[in-house]
Amino acid sequence: MKYPIVAFLLSLFFVATCAYVEHSIISHTTPVEYHFFEDEITWSEAQTHCKSIGGDLVRIYDQTTNDLIMAHINASDIGANIDSGFWIGYNDQRVEGTFEWVSGFVCPYENWGPGEPNNNDNLDPSGQDCVQLRKDTAQWDDEYCGEIRDKAFICEVEVC
Ligand SMILES: *[C@@H]1O[C@H](CO)[C@@H](O)[C@H](O)[C@H]1NC(C)=O
Repeated sequence: MKYPIVAFLLSLFFVATCAYVEHSIISHTTPVEYHFFEDEITWSEAQTHCKSIGGDLVRIYDQTTNDLIMAHINASDIGANIDSGFWIGYNDQRVEGTFEWVSGFVCPYENWGPGEPNNNDNLDPSGQDCVQLRKDTAQWDDEYCGEIRDKAFICEVEVC
């Protein structure tokens, strides 16, 4: 069986090469650290990487958290090479139309941009199941989970 060995080697390679971009910041409201990565990888690869550092793709459960993260992005050169945005932990992969956080939490707060989520203008009704935080608008946008073009990601790691 070659496959498990290959998969293991690939994951080691991935962890070793995923470039840690910059500072982490600690949330004001919860003991969580945010880690920013500029690697352009799929949503599930991003989640796998977050797991490997003891966390998950970021959960943005209120406006304060969205502002905190955006203020940090705006005030730094995080994502300078990324045109689009950052993968966050929100997705409707399990049940189309029912968005939830990777951790399984469903929170009342959402921050969709105008017309979002739109499943690519409904050209592809079950198509866009993963969510990015857009750099230009600070709002959320559903995207194809396998899209890697111009998309970085943010992990949250519990501090204690
Ligand atoms: C960050 O920049 C974006 C894009 O210019 C803007 O929409 C947003 O309001 C800014 N957010 C904060 C918290 O600075």
